[in-house]
Amino acid sequence: MIQYKRHLVTAALPYANGPLHVGHLCGAYLPADVYVRFQRLMGKDILYICGSDEHGAAITMRALREGKTPREIIDAYHDLFKETFRRIGISFDYYHRTSEILHHQTSQDMFRELHRKGAFVELETEQYFDVAAGQFLADRYLTGTCPKCSNPGAYGDQCEQCGSSLNPVDLIEPKSVLTGEKPELRKTRHWYLPLDQHESWLKPWLEEGTLDGHYHHDPAQWKNHVLGQCRSWIEGGLQARAMTRDLDWGVDVPAELPGAEGKKLYVWMDAPIGYISATRQWALEHGKNWEDYWKDPECELIQFIGKDNIVFHCIIFPAILRAHGGLNLPSNVPANQFMNLEGEKISTSRNWAVWVHEFMDELPGYEDSLRYYLIKHMPEQKDSEFTWKGFQDAHNNELVNNLSNFVHRVLSLTHKFYDGRIPDFDPDQGFEGLAGMDLGGFHDVELIFLFDELQEMADHLRSFDFRASLAKLMEICSFGNQLLQLNEPWKLQKEDPDTVKVVMNLCLHYVTALSIAMEPFLPFAADRLRRMLGLESLKGANELNDALDKIAEGEYLLEPGHPIAAANYLFSRIEDDLIQRQSDKLHGGAAAQPASAGQESFNAPPLKPVISYDDFSKLDLRTARITAAEKVPKADKLLRLEIDLGFEKRTVVSGIAEHYTPEEIVGRSVLILANLAPRQLRGIESNGMILMAENGEGKLTFVSATAETQPGAEVK
Ligand code: MF3
Ligand code: ZN
Repeated sequence: MIQYKRHLVTAALPYANGPLHVGHLCGAYLPADVYVRFQRLMGKDILYICGSDEHGAAITMRALREGKTPREIIDAYHDLFKETFRRIGISFDYYHRTSEILHHQTSQDMFRELHRKGAFVELETEQYFDVAAGQFLADRYLTGTCPKCSNPGAYGDQCEQCGSSLNPVDLIEPKSVLTGEKPELRKTRHWYLPLDQHESWLKPWLEEGTLDGHYHHDPAQWKNHVLGQCRSWIEGGLQARAMTRDLDWGVDVPAELPGAEGKKLYVWMDAPIGYISATRQWALEHGKNWEDYWKDPECELIQFIGKDNIVFHCIIFPAILRAHGGLNLPSNVPANQFMNLEGEKISTSRNWAVWVHEFMDELPGYEDSLRYYLIKHMPEQKDSEFTWKGFQDAHNNELVNNLSNFVHRVLSLTHKFYDGRIPDFDPDQGFEGLAGMDLGGFHDVELIFLFDELQEMADHLRSFDFRASLAKLMEICSFGNQLLQLNEPWKLQKEDPDTVKVVMNLCLHYVTALSIAMEPFLPFAADRLRRMLGLESLKGANELNDALDKIAEGEYLLEPGHPIAAANYLFSRIEDDLIQRQSDKLHGGAAAQPASAGQESFNAPPLKPVISYDDFSKLDLRTARITAAEKVPKADKLLRLEIDLGFEKRTVVSGIAEHYTPEEIVGRSVLILANLAPRQLRGIESNGMILMAENGEGKLTFVSATAETQPGAEVK
């Protein structure tokens, strides 16, 4: 064990290409926040930094799709992120962004230093080039069929269906995302990091926690799934990985290097360096020295990420840091797995998500409830699940019935019995029936119990067991409630007011300890509770450590006579209609709708590869009206339709006879593909195709053209 002087905590830099959903939040930002808030309360020197990841294809592709510049995209999402994190109580010390000049300089300095030390190998290889677009197609600019699972929508660097990491040249039938064209191979030179040369130190570092034969960290503290992924990367054989790209958005390769022109740093080289530039920017603005956090071995580095980032943080970034030299490596990378939503993977493209900023707009005041639920179901060791019903139940049964009720009962009784002042009591009051057994006073014994519980909670937090630590916190509330339930001060007050004073003072100690201990999880409610108790807001300056010390030394957390403020409820119930609205929104807003209530939800087929606008514009889509319909003899599935396009009439044979009767559909407005080559079906020439949507059970429904649209209108 190393006694660190300082701690640096990072959370993965989110791509500034789309809003944050609950999966992002409970993957990295929330666990890191809980950890950091806790360590601040323990008086630790701890710095929490993050920032927006603004380079790479994630950004330029989004810009392309929306017809915007990358700058417009990153500015919009960077601002949204800052605001979203602030509103949900993520307490970064600094939130930076990789488009800042300091970041470009920091990354280029690192690149130069690696280059100077001979840490790169320069290689010329063949890569896909889009002739029409005049550019190379790195990573996400290329789609094709996955060689491992045949997913037709795999990317150049990865298949999201089977999770394989891919080499662009392995894709079957590669296509340019920019033009939809088949790219050709051209030669290009790049700087590669020979990861294979790092294996000899990476292995003992990961497996044994040693570096150059010296203790670095305890691998037993790392999560199994993190080590497992690292092991399989190493066993699969590490390979040289290109650290540069032929792109025009990103950090320039330092211009003085021969061949730098037109080359940018690979986004997975520049983004993690963002942790360093964020620290530098924070240090500049706070009169500190960033090197104390990156170069001093007495500073510990802890990196919170989601499981899709493991290889980058446990192998590639460490290799960059080590190749540079003199920089700290992480002592732990407590990655989380994924959170699913109502039985399905969260999907941005299908809008199957709970967006954090929308949650706060639509459920204002429930920020802590969301934090609570996400911590309770944090995907620490395996994937977990968000359900709206689960969210409501956790809030109502735990935050309201347990925590809020306990606090309210204690504070309102304090007003009732003692005019809102902390009662003094006789410390020698013993247990009923145990008097004379020399167990010390009831109050002392119970406080020692509280101390042990708080220590257990702290131990869970130190070992990144956030679920367990939250459960411990709620157990403390339950014990508080039991103290009230067993002693019934509301009954006892008449006959034994002295005992009631002991019980009430003790309960007020529980409430005060909770106002501190709950802060990492429920910072807004902690603040409300501090005010109710007539205490100062927490500053994250050793308050939990102080409270523990006081309890250990038999000092009180609240002085007798101290006045509290009015008793309020910390949380109130969430009613069904609020949850119903969210659940309706989720189901209604998603491309994939469950067929109907109670049925299996629908797994939408994967998206097809991207096509160019030119491809799309070849389709002649029109609105039309069905003027007549009849069954095609001896064909169960076919209807013969007469279609009015306004300027001409046509016959179309359509395979919808099992879904619609002719009478049902005459007069209907529909969309048709008007320039499909004519086809003979059962001896009838069909001229065009009616567009239909197919649901999860194979049922076809019309894609509606509104009745107002004139037949013949172009759809584009
Ligand atoms: N932007 C990446 C993602 O969202 C994470 C980058 S983490 C960093 O998956 F280390 F590169 F910064
Ligand atoms: Zn695949």
